Amino acid sequence: LDDLLASGVRGRRVLVRADLNVPLDGDRITDDGRVRASLPTLRALAAAGARVVVTAHLGRPKGAPDPAFSLAPVARRLGELLGGEVAFATDVVGDSARSTVAGLADGGVAVLENVRFDPRETSKDDTERGAFAEELAALVGADGAFVSDGFGVVHRKQASVYDVAQRLPHYAGGLVLAEVEVLRRLTENPARPYVVVLGGAKVSDKLGVIANLLTKVDRLVVGGGMAYTFLKAQGHEVGSSLLQADQLDQVRAFLAEARERGVELVLPVDVLATKEFAADADHEVVRSDAIPADRMGLDIGPESRKLFAAKVADAATVFWNGPMGVFEFEAFSGGTRAVAQALVDSDAFTVVGGGDSAAAVRQLGLPENGFSHISTGGGASLEFLEGKQLPGVAVLEG
Ligand code: 3PG
Repeated sequence: LDDLLASGVRGRRVLVRADLNVPLDGDRITDDGRVRASLPTLRALAAAGARVVVTAHLGRPKGAPDPAFSLAPVARRLGELLGGEVAFATDVVGDSARSTVAGLADGGVAVLENVRFDPRETSKDDTERGAFAEELAALVGADGAFVSDGFGVVHRKQASVYDVAQRLPHYAGGLVLAEVEVLRRLTENPARPYVVVLGGAKVSDKLGVIANLLTKVDRLVVGGGMAYTFLKAQGHEVGSSLLQADQLDQVRAFLAEARERGVELVLPVDVLATKEFAADADHEVVRSDAIPADRMGLDIGPESRKLFAAKVADAATVFWNGPMGVFEFEAFSGGTRAVAQALVDSDAFTVVGGGDSAAAVRQLGLPENGFSHISTGGGASLEFLEGKQLPGVAVLEG
């Protein structure tokens, strides 16, 4: 971005890929973290006189316009946060996009409608994606430029992330640079002890990252829904808790590898168990090796919270991804809060890996500046830690 600014952008059109994929309740944004994270790059470009054209996705529409996935409320929020008018194009590369971009003054900002309303954005066919990328690039014209700042989506080989960078002078935005720098610090040279806390519902979503982390970390702490598959793999009964029976062999292999490599694997010792999955379900604390057959664990229990906090307390580097329980239900948010608080209390380099964990930090009212870094990328940060090459980063380096 600094290189682009130094080359002079006044009057030039700059296409910015942002990740504005925020949770919505109707048209109310329930967590605007990603919109706020996009501000520094947009502000820098606008202040330098660029005509800024923002492209982004929201959710996973089926490759056609769908009002439920419109970026209009997000564009409004962006305008509020930027403290100025943000123009909104009601299509992606059509008449509205062209006239909205043509109407931009120096320093103006426009948002295009959800880029996934065009099926070519996510097409597996390079030619289709390429044709769409040409149309996106044409919006900013011959002296235009592309800034990739949507870190949350750099793991996707999609037209607005990958192909368009091949068709315009391309630059990494400040957010992408900052995220990559932090995650490289974790993968290349973490200060030790390096502790990772993983949660979330499904172990199947995290297989690649667990496999890679076992070669890097000193300690792996597992909570959330995925912990029950680990407990079962250790031979414990988990009642009606979330269990991925088809992953048991894989998890047993992880347990064996952790032992061989000397990685300390920490699991919950107690859980809050209920008979039903409900916000107001009666619950009791039970030992994690004796969950009654008719009970499911919806959060880690008080002893586990203390244990997990202690396992974070002596770390020099901590990465945390995934809630410890059903944090959307107040009664089962205590485990997630305890882990988040342990990171806040720690002097370590602490990184929160995107998605639900970043939303949980804000929803639980924890101070965002209590963490060294809160990633905007859920899947992207996990794929980075998995050691995968991210197409949206590789294309900028090429
Ligand atoms: C995310 O929410 O992780 C990013 O915005 C990417 O969204 P996607 O998983 O639908 O590609």
